[in-house]
Amino acid sequence: MDAAIVMGFDIERASAAFYDSLFEQFPQIRRLFGDLGSQRRMFEVALKSVLYKSNNKAELERYLRLLGEKHKMLGILPLHMEQGMYSFIQALRAGNPDIDEETMARMVEIYNRLVEVMGYNCKVPIMV
Ligand code: HEM
Repeated sequence: MDAAIVMGFDIERASAAFYDSLFEQFPQIRRLFGDLGSQRRMFEVALKSVLYKSNNKAELERYLRLLGEKHKMLGILPLHMEQGMYSFIQALRAGNPDIDEETMARMVEIYNRLVEVMGYNCKVPIMV
């Protein structure tokens, strides 16, 4: 099922939808973004982490901690991460309009987990 989440997922559409929604919520963060490549990497990280198995989990966690530091240095707050969940959900639907509710719930869990390992203490309980 994990691989099925990633297969056929339109990462370009998802990334575009994620940042459209994020910038709508927080116009002031737009200026923090350099190039479109770094935006795309956000989703790649989120999706790849779905496929990571326990043998390279430590490596992934180390990377995510550093990524969290980078976000904090840029001024990204827990509030942004919390609201980012809603953008993430919209992005998942954009990336795959046929996404089922079970996969959606699993991706929401993954988002929460990523944010937690990145060092943001803001789990969002959410119904999808
Ligand atoms: C699970 C949540 C998130 C993940 C996994 C994630 C991941 C990433 C990654 C991989 C990058 C590129 C880093 C690089 O270029 O080395 C990035 C950059 C960035 N992210 Fe996130 N991100 C998340 C949520 C957010 C949210 C909610 C915001 C703001 C509301 C945000 C703002 C930024 C900014 C400002 C950059 C810098 C872009 C640049 O340097 O051009 N991120 N993120």
